[in-house]
Amino acid sequence: MLDGELGETKRTAMEILTALGRIYNAEKMIPVSSAQVAGVSYKTIGDAGLEYLEIMASKGAKVSIPTFLNPAGMDVEQWKEQGIPKEFAEKQIHILDAYKKMGIMSTYTCTPYQIGIRPGKGEHIAWAESSAVAFANSVLGARTNREGGPSALSAGICGVTPYYGLHIDENRVAGVKVKIEANLKSDNDFGTMGYFIGREVGKRYPAFSKIKASEIQLKLLGAAMAASGAVPLFYVEGVTPEYIVSDDAEEIIFTDDDLKKMKEEIDSGEKPDLVTLGCPHASIEEIKRVVELVKEKKPTCKFWICTARKTKEKAEELGYDKIIKEAGGILVADTCMVVCPLKEMGFNITGANSGKAAKYLPNLCKQKVAFGDIEDILYR
Ligand code: F3S
Repeated sequence: MLDGELGETKRTAMEILTALGRIYNAEKMIPVSSAQVAGVSYKTIGDAGLEYLEIMASKGAKVSIPTFLNPAGMDVEQWKEQGIPKEFAEKQIHILDAYKKMGIMSTYTCTPYQIGIRPGKGEHIAWAESSAVAFANSVLGARTNREGGPSALSAGICGVTPYYGLHIDENRVAGVKVKIEANLKSDNDFGTMGYFIGREVGKRYPAFSKIKASEIQLKLLGAAMAASGAVPLFYVEGVTPEYIVSDDAEEIIFTDDDLKKMKEEIDSGEKPDLVTLGCPHASIEEIKRVVELVKEKKPTCKFWICTARKTKEKAEELGYDKIIKEAGGILVADTCMVVCPLKEMGFNITGANSGKAAKYLPNLCKQKVAFGDIEDILYR
């Protein structure tokens, strides 16, 4: 591939992978069973990214393993109802077309594991979206580094990745132990704890003491830590398939006071213009919970539930979309509150129950954040 015998685009992709391998002293390449490509929204990659993708696609680049996409900058079917500017939508469609030409699945989600793509323990993959990386490594026990858009695309094209970092078992050791003393009740509590711990540990891997946590709560915890820090792997004693902690791990205690102060710091206390749920993309269970809530009492502001298209279709089969619409909400597929142009759409204060969304909304979307439990932010 590197010699160009398999074509120019494979050579370009392999050049990226070998450069990465040299930087990290990888001894070899290893096969990966899937790749998840980030850098899909026009808001994130702009004209330069679009140009690169169109060149790769026009030269015949094709993926050789199952490869799927992170959220785009808009719902591809209802971008007009969503209020996306036309010029943005046109550019976005060109990006999606280029990826399609390369044989990449149009999943547009950060939770591929909720739509049937669930790598097993020990399986090597090359995923790019930070919350999906944290989930795959920690909750599923798969092996992936936190890929960039170009390196994940290259892994999809070549079917391999350099063997370094989290692909190597000896590197998967937690350097920080987190003793949870806080009484965690809601999903938002897990996102808040993730926001706090991610900031404390940075790139190190935390190992949490035994707690009861659902898959949704682990998803929110990992997503927040990947955003406020750069955590690609965490363990929870008795919950995650692996739990490997260094003998000299530093210990952090997380208390009720930390939880309360963290919430107060993140929340602006204002009434949101729009509440956005589903960061990471909502599962059908999460959608069902919101449906049950809004059926009883209509929210006091507009809301979106961001999810994968496949999950949205399931929700439609169950009639959830109608209940959500009647309550002033929309089920938004293919995109999310962070990668779509919220500011340009006229929103200034956005509600979120997710620690990750709360971290990114101020910087990437120039939004004030109303942060809290769903029952709080929908009814302020
Ligand atoms: Fe997913 Fe967007 Fe959140 S990509 S993790 S919903 S910021």
